[in-house]
Amino acid sequence: MQISPQLKNRFKNSKNILALTGAGISAESGVPTFRGKEGLWKQYRAEDLATPQAFRKDPKLVWEWYLWRMELISTKSPNPAHFALAELEKKRSDFYLITQNVDGLHKKSGSEKVMEIHGNIFRNRCISCAHFYDSDLSKLKISIECANCGNLVRPDVLWFGESYDTELLNQAVSLAERSELALVIGSSGAVGIPVELARIAKENGAFVIEINLDPSGYSRYADLFLQGKAGEILPEIVSYFV
Ligand code: OAD
Repeated sequence: MQISPQLKNRFKNSKNILALTGAGISAESGVPTFRGKEGLWKQYRAEDLATPQAFRKDPKLVWEWYLWRMELISTKSPNPAHFALAELEKKRSDFYLITQNVDGLHKKSGSEKVMEIHGNIFRNRCISCAHFYDSDLSKLKISIECANCGNLVRPDVLWFGESYDTELLNQAVSLAERSELALVIGSSGAVGIPVELARIAKENGAFVIEINLDPSGYSRYADLFLQGKAGEILPEIVSYFV
């Protein structure tokens, strides 16, 4: 990869580094992405499985699908791209990570300053009293009924048609506004709010670097597009930060 000395300097001198990740960063760990040839939304209908209406209509079906995904994800490990971002957090106290992924692999790789804007597949909550439950990973089962109030328990992930948590979104926007360098990694840009975060970063003067196999909905905001696998490119990029 050809990274100019000027750009390496920029890595060193930029403040408030932000990374925004999507399903592509976990692809090399073996977690399926949503779009693309083998994407989940090619095999399953999002409206049957990932909406509040689907859950109301058939909570068991929705749970079956989430338990299958939890089981799959629980066998996967972070890859060099996740580890590179965990290393960047150690190098730079002004680094923050926003992820759309619900797989928990960033935290598993050692990242602590992670905002999971679409939730976490291993956390569940009652739809009524908001009591939280962790999945029992040893059995990969949870009771669909809340022990507290008897209502339904659901995965604590964002579904289509649902709003982002306002407080979390405000924090994400202010991270984007403050960042002087933003890394956008492995996301198609099919979901509007994350793309907005990249736009906000760019409009507030951030230098935006995108890492993806293909151009995406973010590419129009990218000052530098690095085409390829995150697990191959990101460790080298992170090595330039001090
Ligand atoms: P997508 O599945 O839409 O996009 C994955 C992106 O990763 C694509 O642009 C691929 O080109 C890229 N990619 C694949 N493998 C890669 C690799 N090894 N290195 C770098 N890039 C790679 O996933 P997201 O953009 O994360 O939301 O999807 C956004 C949201 O849509 C998800 O969070 C989920 C989904 O519906 C909800 O469930 C609310």
